Amino acid sequence: MRRLDSSRLALLAVLLCAQACNAQETQPPVDARSERAEPRVRPDVNAAYLDPSLDVERLARGFASEGREAFAARDAVTRALTIEPGMAVADIGAGTGIYLEPFADAVGPDGTVYAIDIAQPLVDYLDAYARERGLDNVEPVLGETATTTLPDASVDLVFTSDVYHHFERPRAMNAHLFDVLRPGGTYAILDFRTDEDAPRWIRDHVRTDMATVIAEVTAAGFVFAREVPVRGLQENYLLLFERP
Ligand SMILES: C[S@@+](CC[C@H](N)C(=O)[O-])C[C@H]1O[C@@H](n2cnc3c(N)ncnc32)[C@H](O)[C@@H]1O
Repeated sequence: MRRLDSSRLALLAVLLCAQACNAQETQPPVDARSERAEPRVRPDVNAAYLDPSLDVERLARGFASEGREAFAARDAVTRALTIEPGMAVADIGAGTGIYLEPFADAVGPDGTVYAIDIAQPLVDYLDAYARERGLDNVEPVLGETATTTLPDASVDLVFTSDVYHHFERPRAMNAHLFDVLRPGGTYAILDFRTDEDAPRWIRDHVRTDMATVIAEVTAAGFVFAREVPVRGLQENYLLLFERP
């Protein structure tokens, strides 16, 4: 075998590098919302909801218990959101639908409430729940980890109740929600406080403190408006962000 002299080796190195660089340039850019761009921050956090043996009726009883702030304060929370008739509202991670009735009332017959969840049995439950109560302006939607599947600029208010810390890919989801909201729309987040005096299970379970939520959401382009005091909320806070 002929031995390569040093000048030939140098040329070969340049050619190989050029080939590699060219290959890199022609690679499609990584979609900022792809799994590759943002690995899941808590891959197992929704395991219970996605478990095929999920007991939805039992879950519904637990979510709709008067001892739970997000449920007991739902009318006060709805008032704090200043929902107007005709609005399109997305309840993301709607679960068993504790906000469907107050939201459906607030948007009225000309508005729409999208009740979105990633678990098909919960979407089926939301569908039956809305039909049984004659909530004709409620539309259940099966979402995915980083998308609601709603079109861009289709809603006026995005609401999450004890769901933000369940977002497995918050950066991608926040970017999607920015697109889904109409300019001037509101992103409202109700979630648990994780202060030192919060119960141990909350501090163990909830990934985000309030400062982290604000940092992640504003990084997506939202403007932090304020924390709204709501009668009946102590363990939870309600934050409002504006979509410029
Ligand atoms: C703690 S439960 C809250 C349910 C309801 N919001 C309530 O307050 O009663 C969290 C819910 O968020 C849903 N979820 C988690 N990640 C989601 C996502 N990326 N998009 C939509 N729903 C999601 C789960 O399936 C579950 O139903």
